[in-house]
Amino acid sequence: MAIFEWDDSIALNIPIIDEQHKELLGWIAALDDAVQKGEGAQTISEVLLKLVSYVCLHFDEEERLLLTCNYPDFASHRREHDGFVKKLQGFQERFQDGEELSRSTLEFMSDWIVTHIRGSDQKYGPLLRAKIGTAEC
Ligand SMILES: [Fe+2]
Repeated sequence: MAIFEWDDSIALNIPIIDEQHKELLGWIAALDDAVQKGEGAQTISEVLLKLVSYVCLHFDEEERLLLTCNYPDFASHRREHDGFVKKLQGFQERFQDGEELSRSTLEFMSDWIVTHIRGSDQKYGPLLRAKIGTAEC
């Protein structure tokens, strides 16, 4: 399995979300790059922190839109986000404890995001596309 690079197959056609998904996958690719190049722990830990911060920023923004647009499955969607953030925090802690960031961990991050976009995010696509920019949302 490879680290996924953005392509139109995961586009939601909601510009603000698509841009953030691109940037998020870009941070995973940057982290993979740093690990492959054998960068030092300080550099890897900085990129990992940027990735986790960006994931949180993106989830906050997405959840804000889902709430504003009255998305009916908001609670379960947020639970998925929370679960992924906990996983990332666990990876961060283990890395700080001296464990290496493995290729399979990076692939897990990439797979999780792509599966989430293709599954759960796609489900809110029609509602948000219809409502964003209207008086309703
Ligand atoms: Fe999401």
